[in-house]
Amino acid sequence: IADVKGGPDEGVDRLGEVLVVRGWVRTCRVQSTVTFIEINDGSCLSNMQCVMSSDAEGYDQVESGFLTTGTSVLIEGTVVSSQGSKQKVELKVARLILIGKSDPSTYPIQKKRATREFLRTIAHLRPRTNTFGAVTRVRNALAYATHKFFQENGFVWISSPIITASDCEGAGEQFCVTTLISNAGESDCPLNSIPTTEEGNVDWSQDFFGKPAFLTVSGQLNAETYASAFSDVYTFGPTFRAENSNTSRHLAEFWMIEPELAFADLNDDMACATAYLQYVVKYILENCKEDMDFFNTWIEKGIINRLKAVVEKDFIQLTYSDAVELLLKSKKKFEFPVKWGLDLQSEHERYITEIAFGGRPVIIRDYPKEIKAFYMRQNDDGKTVSAMDLLVPRVGELIGGSQREERLDYLESRLDELKLNKDSYWWYLDLRRFGSVPHAGFGLGFERLVQFATGIENIRDAIPFPRSPGSADF
Ligand code: 4AD
Ligand code: MG
Repeated sequence: IADVKGGPDEGVDRLGEVLVVRGWVRTCRVQSTVTFIEINDGSCLSNMQCVMSSDAEGYDQVESGFLTTGTSVLIEGTVVSSQGSKQKVELKVARLILIGKSDPSTYPIQKKRATREFLRTIAHLRPRTNTFGAVTRVRNALAYATHKFFQENGFVWISSPIITASDCEGAGEQFCVTTLISNAGESDCPLNSIPTTEEGNVDWSQDFFGKPAFLTVSGQLNAETYASAFSDVYTFGPTFRAENSNTSRHLAEFWMIEPELAFADLNDDMACATAYLQYVVKYILENCKEDMDFFNTWIEKGIINRLKAVVEKDFIQLTYSDAVELLLKSKKKFEFPVKWGLDLQSEHERYITEIAFGGRPVIIRDYPKEIKAFYMRQNDDGKTVSAMDLLVPRVGELIGGSQREERLDYLESRLDELKLNKDSYWWYLDLRRFGSVPHAGFGLGFERLVQFATGIENIRDAIPFPRSPGSADF
């Protein structure tokens, strides 16, 4: 359908052509002389209006009342100009084949608009709605533009492991993966019996990996190893966090894009984040016009102008210290305290980007080292690290990144300070032993990007099958 309707003059160039359309019935209106059937095939927001008269092949399906919402059909017909005001062309039906029926008394998607909460309970059918159709296409375009941006700029895509023994962020938010090996060498789900040693500890010798293993929270440490050979690399894959994620910006399973740049510092990192975000936003503004217009009308009024400003204007940059000062001077009453050394809460982040800087993206840099991860490069002041967070309106933190500590002695003493086991980071430390270079990178939460780019309020609606506390269906 997009192939026809997306053409010059919305399909007028295709007049007279005979086409076959396969899709799902959105509505069917039987009138005295003709029947109007609206078909959607997911290729675009628009339906194809098909006009059927009683002499067309397959008209008995209309008469039997089977062409209800959700039914799958094949329709062959000729492109003709439409009398209606909503579209320039329509299909004059020659032949209709009903492929799969849809019982109207039980099909859960009805014409009246359903709430997002309800649609989450039917995540297998919600892609057939306008909103989820549009979100899915824009998500797809953002993924394509992501690869395009990095590939055009000489980055190599790396797949980082999903199962790992290391905790990149050190925040203890990992899901444990454990499978026991029985004596016969077969694996067994451990839920029933976790073997313990005589002292009562878990006996990891009977585990598949021989030690605690987890779903990855970030591919960064692995990306650093490849950046130390390829210079510029990126990952784009699923990551997992077992944090209490009952908010509109947290998922237990989300996709992260993590570029890692060798021979680079924090300024290069911020420049890369800015260029990347501007590129993908520009890409969807140019290539997803119909869906973006839909969001602009139905989801977030003015989103197109907001996104245009992202592409056209520089991002604001300020240090963490300046951000704290700005918050302390503001007249707004915050729920959480503002004090140098404390992490910024989402209310603070939103104030900075939405109120203080009128909706422009803001990059905050040089955070206190105590509130950031072990791998970030210490600044000369001894108190802060070369970290940066990119904040955007509505979503808050979209990107978190840093220059990495490339000096072996600094990194080792930081691991000691944090009482982290140096032995388990032996391979990561090796990168600082053999040809260490200054390097930097960032992680962008892909679903937060989808939220930002579509205006969709809840992150659970930015991914096909959301995982959150108590919900892992579908
Ligand atoms: O700030 P974070 O924790 O940074 C890292 O993981 C670094 N290792 C990245 C790097 O430098 N390579 O996470 C990065 C981004 C956040 O800014 C946020 O957009 C997203 O990942 N994110 C989440 N998105 C959805 N649900 C969650 N629970 C998320 N946690 C983080
Ligand atoms: Mg962060």
